[in-house]
Amino acid sequence: MKELVDKLSEKHSLSESEYAALIRGRALDITAELAGLAVQTRRAIYGNDVFTRGLIEISSICKNNCLYCGIRKDNHNANRYRLTEDDILSCAAEGYRLGFRTFVLQGGDDPFFTDPVLCGIVYKLKENHSDCAVTLSMGERSRESYKQLFDAGADRYLLRHETADPEHYARLHPKEMSFANRMQCLYDLRDIGYQVGCGFMVGSPFQTPETLAKDLKFIEEFKPDMCGIGPFIPHHDTAFRDMPAGTVEETLYLLSIIRLIHPPVLLPATTALGTIDPNGREKGIQAGANVVMPNLSPVEVRGKYELYDNKICTGEESAQCRQCLDTRMRAIGYRLVVDRGDIKRQTEVNSNV
Ligand code: 5AD
Ligand code: FES
Repeated sequence: MKELVDKLSEKHSLSESEYAALIRGRALDITAELAGLAVQTRRAIYGNDVFTRGLIEISSICKNNCLYCGIRKDNHNANRYRLTEDDILSCAAEGYRLGFRTFVLQGGDDPFFTDPVLCGIVYKLKENHSDCAVTLSMGERSRESYKQLFDAGADRYLLRHETADPEHYARLHPKEMSFANRMQCLYDLRDIGYQVGCGFMVGSPFQTPETLAKDLKFIEEFKPDMCGIGPFIPHHDTAFRDMPAGTVEETLYLLSIIRLIHPPVLLPATTALGTIDPNGREKGIQAGANVVMPNLSPVEVRGKYELYDNKICTGEESAQCRQCLDTRMRAIGYRLVVDRGDIKRQTEVNSNV
C-alpha cells in the first residue's frame, strides 16, 4: 500500500489494477497518509483558499429516468417547479451581493430550456455580472447547443460521467441513455473551449473497486478542470430506495486520491457529503477538496430539488448558507474567497510549488 501511495504522489498515475488495489486496501493509516499528501498538494497550489460557487437549481422537471435520481420522469410523487428568468437573475444578484463570483445553473433535462431560452439567461447573467463565471449543469445536449451556450458566454460545464464502465453505466440508466453519448458530450465540451467537470457517485449501486479504478483512470487521462464526487444517497421514490448509501470514509479517500492524480483539479466538498455527515464538507476540505457550492435557489423551491433523501440546506436563506460555510471553513483554518475560482493551469502551478 505504502508503495502505491508513494508512486501515486510522485507520478500522479497508477495502472488500473493498482487503483483497484488501492481502493480495496483502504484502511485508517493509509487514509490519513493520503489525506496529508492531498492537503499538502492542494496547499501548494491554492493555499488555504476555498472557492465558492452559488448553485441555482433552475428546474426539477426532467424528461430522463436515471434510476438513482429522485427527480426522474417516472417519479410521479416528485414536486416539480421551474424558475423564471427573473427568478434566476435575482438569485444571482443576491449571490453577487454575498460575494459569489461563479453561478452554477443546474437543472433536470427540462425541454423548456431550449437553446434560445438558456442562451438568453446566460447572456443576461454575463451582462449583469461581467466579472463572474457562469457554469452550466444541464445534462446532455447536442454539440451545437453546447457551442451556442458557450458563444452566449457560458464558461464551464458540469456533466458527471457517473461511471467510466459501460456495463455499470447501463445498470444505472434507462436504455435510452448511452455511455458513449455521455463521454462524447464531455469531449465536445472540452473541444468547444469550456472548463469541464466530470464526476461520479461514491457507493452507487453495482459499483466495485474495478469500476472505480476505471473512473480514476478516466480522470487521470481526461484531466477534468472540475470533478464532482459525493456519496450515493438512496431516494425513497426510486427503485434504488433500499440500496445502501455511499460512505463518508470512502468518499474522503477518493477525494484525496483524485487530488493526487490531478493536483490542480477543482474539487468540491459536496452537499451530498454534508448530508450523510454533519461535518462532511469540512472533512472533504481536510481530505483535499477546495470548493463548496452552497445553494442560492429561492427557499420556496429548495425542498423540491430532491435528487436524494434528507438533503441539507433546504430551509436556509442564501445569506445563511454563505455565513454558515464561512464560519465552518474558518473553524478549520480555511477561508472562503471572493473569486471566480478558475483552475490554476500547470504553468502557474509549477511556478507556485
Ligand atoms: N444520490 C447522490 N447523488 C445523486 N445524484 C443524482 N441522484 C443522486 C443520489 N440519489 C447526482 C448525480 C448527478 C448529480 C446532479 O447528482 O451524480 O450527476
Ligand atoms: Fe446551508 Fe450550513 S451551508 S446551513
